Amino acid sequence: MNLKILVTGSEGFIGSHIVEKLVKKGYKVKALVLYNFNNSHGWLDTLDKKTLKEIEIIAGDIRDLSFLLQITKKIDVILHLAALISIPYSYKAPYSSLESNILGSFNILESAKINGVKKVIMTSTSEVYGTAQQVPINERHPLNPQSPYAASKVAADKISLSYNRSFDLPVTIIRPFNTYGPRQSLRAIIPSIISQLVSGKKIIDIGDISPKRDFTYIDDTVDAFLMAIKSKKIIGEEINLGNGFDISIGQIINILKEDFKFDFKIKVNKERLRPKKSEVYRLIASNIKAKKLLNWKPKHNGLYGFRQGLEKTIKWYEDSNNLKFFRVNEYNI
Ligand SMILES: NC(=O)c1ccc[n+]([C@@H]2O[C@H](COP(=O)([O-])OP(=O)(O)OC[C@H]3O[C@@H](n4cnc5c(N)ncnc54)[C@H](O)[C@@H]3O)[C@@H](O)[C@H]2O)c1
Repeated sequence: MNLKILVTGSEGFIGSHIVEKLVKKGYKVKALVLYNFNNSHGWLDTLDKKTLKEIEIIAGDIRDLSFLLQITKKIDVILHLAALISIPYSYKAPYSSLESNILGSFNILESAKINGVKKVIMTSTSEVYGTAQQVPINERHPLNPQSPYAASKVAADKISLSYNRSFDLPVTIIRPFNTYGPRQSLRAIIPSIISQLVSGKKIIDIGDISPKRDFTYIDDTVDAFLMAIKSKKIIGEEINLGNGFDISIGQIINILKEDFKFDFKIKVNKERLRPKKSEVYRLIASNIKAKKLLNWKPKHNGLYGFRQGLEKTIKWYEDSNNLKFFRVNEYNI
């Protein structure tokens, strides 16, 4: 059990929850945070002292191969989550997304190969599929990236698979569909709406409300990563993580009004619309492979499970100790 796990993107939304769970389960954790001038460790700074004492936090950058070669020595498993994940930011600064997500992932693979890391879990995204051409989307669905971000993830996925085929590097691609829950950036649709509501706004700024997504609650996403560490059947595989249940942004708005009794109107803000051909209108996962290979079954399932996850998420953002970390009155990209 005493495996040493390197988590990249450890200070972010999904990474910080994974780090917490890994410590709880007794793993040795090395947490890479993106170097910055004021030594911020992102969400890791909010973990309790007892948990923090168990984590080796290291600041650096996945774009730097020589740095990664040093920190991946004596690592058993890499969970690679670091990425620039904003789609609107990838319109504005595409090179940054390509460099972080493609070169950064290549550096992870190369250093894992050189240092003999026993398992490398690369984090993909459902965005690689583009608008569903057949549903539910299984791992054989065509790849049709509609944004520079999605294209950078396709490239990273393909390089990862090539490292398995060419060098027998024990790589697995875990492909989450949209994840939601506490600590998510306001760039994402659910926290964007909730944060505006809990701070008392009666008119909510929003983009297109027609797209449908398959939302997974953060705890379920974390469980899948922990199962991936243990599974012996996943090398060289790509595995979707999703519920097999999709819901439109408009339907979420209705749930917030009807079930959670928020009283508000929406205002479509042009700034928040994606270019038409870049908008992904429907994502819904087949999770048959995740069930088979990881024994993973999301606990927050279907409409009922979604409401449960939404309730926990609202509670978290309602707490002013949490909301203070965000800029609610700005458009976050
Ligand atoms: N959140 C979702 O709904 C979702 C869905 C599908 C896939 N994913 C994938 O999951 C992973 C984590 O996403 P998240 O939602 O936690 O995002 P996040 O933005 O909260 O976390 C990403 C982290 O990567 C770090 N990072 C960025 N560039 C770096 C660099 N050059 N060097 C080192 N660290 C760097 C950031 O500082 C950040 O903490 C990403 O790979 C993303 O593509 C997320």
